[in-house]
Amino acid sequence: MLTVKPEDQSDLQRINFQNSEGLAGCSPDKTVTQIDADYVRLSASDTEIIIYAKKGERPYIIYWGALLEHSSAEELIALSTRQWAHGGPATDIGQSLSNELATGIAGPSGFVAHRQGNDWAAIFVVEHVLEDSENQVRIVCSDRNTGLKAIYDIKLDPSSNVALATTSISNDGDEPISIDWCASLCIPVDESLSTLKNFTGRWAMEFQEQAVSVFRGSYVRENKTGRTSHDNFPGLIAMSASASENSGRVVGLHLGWSGNNRVRMDRHSDGHNSVQMGELFHPGEMVLAPGQSYTTPILYAAQSENGLSDLSQKFHHCLNTSVLDGRIANKPRLVHYNTWEAVYFDHCEDRLTTLAEKAAEVGAERFVLDDGWFGARRNDQAGLGDWWVSKDVYPNGLEPLADKVRSLGMEFGIWFEPEMVNPDSDLFRAHPEWVLEAKGVAQIPSRQQYVLDLTRPEVSEYLYEKISKIVDDLGITYIKWDMNRDIQHPGSGSTENSGRSAVHKQTKSVYALIDRLRKANPELEIESCSSGGARADFGILRYTDRIWLSDSNDALDRQKIQRGASHFFPLNVLGSHVGPKQCHITKRTLSMELRAATAMFGHMGMELDLLSESAEDLETLKQGIAIYKQHRDVLHNGKFYRLDTPDYLNVTGSVSLDKQAALFSCAKTDGHTTTLPGRLQFPGLDKTKRYQLKIIWPVSDFVVTEPSIVDTLDLRGEGSVFSGEALTVHGIQLPLLYPESCIIFALQSV
Ligand code: GLA
Repeated sequence: MLTVKPEDQSDLQRINFQNSEGLAGCSPDKTVTQIDADYVRLSASDTEIIIYAKKGERPYIIYWGALLEHSSAEELIALSTRQWAHGGPATDIGQSLSNELATGIAGPSGFVAHRQGNDWAAIFVVEHVLEDSENQVRIVCSDRNTGLKAIYDIKLDPSSNVALATTSISNDGDEPISIDWCASLCIPVDESLSTLKNFTGRWAMEFQEQAVSVFRGSYVRENKTGRTSHDNFPGLIAMSASASENSGRVVGLHLGWSGNNRVRMDRHSDGHNSVQMGELFHPGEMVLAPGQSYTTPILYAAQSENGLSDLSQKFHHCLNTSVLDGRIANKPRLVHYNTWEAVYFDHCEDRLTTLAEKAAEVGAERFVLDDGWFGARRNDQAGLGDWWVSKDVYPNGLEPLADKVRSLGMEFGIWFEPEMVNPDSDLFRAHPEWVLEAKGVAQIPSRQQYVLDLTRPEVSEYLYEKISKIVDDLGITYIKWDMNRDIQHPGSGSTENSGRSAVHKQTKSVYALIDRLRKANPELEIESCSSGGARADFGILRYTDRIWLSDSNDALDRQKIQRGASHFFPLNVLGSHVGPKQCHITKRTLSMELRAATAMFGHMGMELDLLSESAEDLETLKQGIAIYKQHRDVLHNGKFYRLDTPDYLNVTGSVSLDKQAALFSCAKTDGHTTTLPGRLQFPGLDKTKRYQLKIIWPVSDFVVTEPSIVDTLDLRGEGSVFSGEALTVHGIQLPLLYPESCIIFALQSV
């Protein structure tokens, strides 16, 4: 190993700091060394990545899997030897980190670029490799033909076992180059991972799991909504056919990006299988002038030999330690009261004051004033963009309400939708040129709003000033940052962009604006909302603290939505509210017991008209909130598990890291065909410990016939003590429950 020359070191830092989505954890003072070996080996506690990185040759991933203790890179290469077959090229065309077109790879290329049809044949070969003290490597490659440079940054996070990877392309040639596609990294996927779990959905029904089993060919999803989207979450899990929640080999990948993207998995007939994820560019969107460079969003990748829950634990840990900025790492997730479904646009200071009092009474710790407080925003037709307190509704301003909320012991938060403008607004009347559009094509209105062009500095500046003023004037510590439409026509008419598509720049501008606000207001927490969960990804979570996961507060739908999202997101960031008895979206009527239990397994809040709830339900809600507060430490800082259960059950839980305490939610979403449900085995416990087992929710009667196991084991009283082993291996017989109900088990080691 050589100590890196000073100029190389500055190169490393320059690129990191130019790249606002650069790999998390890069610090300027880390030790950087240049390595002089043919292989790069990154290892964490249970994961290892081996990359071929010989000078002058194409780099590729030799191995990405469980830790190897007795194997060399050379023997893995030898074991991968492929022979010539009839009908194929004379030598095997293996994969590389970008599967460049010119390599001749049969499957899709991970990098496509050209200069007006020329210079499309880049092949990146290793120039040198840098390694730092944080388990990160930089493989610097160049191509002689095109004057392009590719820099691969790969970090294997030692504490979560998640790999973070980006590719940076710089144009060292004399002419501009168009990048049509650049995957964050091409990841080879083993043939045995024949099932693909992915996520689909729609507004108010996000994160619906679907599985695609063995295929030959391509699975491709393209999202061009200008946001992460409701339907095309940029994440997937490749699984062996027999993998389950607690066993089997699984590989999960997620693109941390909130704009357009493409996700693909290819199982080619020549046996080379790979996953690619990257930004989806409109034609001509990414053109690099000489000297310019482009860095992909971060790809997050993890693997496990122990099934899906273990994989999720890795992503959760990575999100909490390497993605969120840590400002609220040690602060409990406060119980929200959000005004949306209580008042919609019908704001009235007296009513909101009474709601605030009620909210505080049942245990709210933060009051979030949703849409409708500004400009002429009395409905969704007008006012977006006019970010000043409406004198019509709040003649004395919002200070009295904010003060009242604080006097009740709650934080005061407020809703913004900064990226949007209603044509019927003072802002649009003054600056009709400030919107994104496709020249010559009629705007497609969506919720009567257009999209502001944040790539124009004057627009971002306007928003920064307006938001800062409200934050300062009202002492705001929380913003619900919404974004309520797709961007079909993302052309920017600014002089710099002259009509080109600007989703990439727009997305970066949103990140930059939030970043600037947070830097100026270190106490400020921000929630990412986009018509519910259309902007839920690790990219936005580098700048925000919570996701509003779905506009649906229907607890039954939420059970599925939260379960789907939990594959990548931990409970502490999943905004989950108790909605009205009859859900406004589905019109389904569900008990307070089920609604509260569902919201507890997330970042709990409520969003209902507390003035029209029955006294009994309010009491139940109050007790649910108290239970959440008592156990949120276990819920948010423990290890999360989903259980493999029949369709009529959804069981998830969290076990504290020291395995002293655990909470499991068992929702019976439907009826069953057997007389009784089966036994439930609790995962994650210490088999050598003894646990006191209780059912802490619901507080009212819930068993169908008595006596049941609940009575015989006194589960609603003192509980009973069992070994961790018995609870894990044998499990507990579930009592007969009504459909659409949920019980919560609490386990405490004794
Ligand atoms: C979106 C959000 C809702 C609410 C409304 C307000 O739909 O998802 O939670 O804030 O906007 O207009």
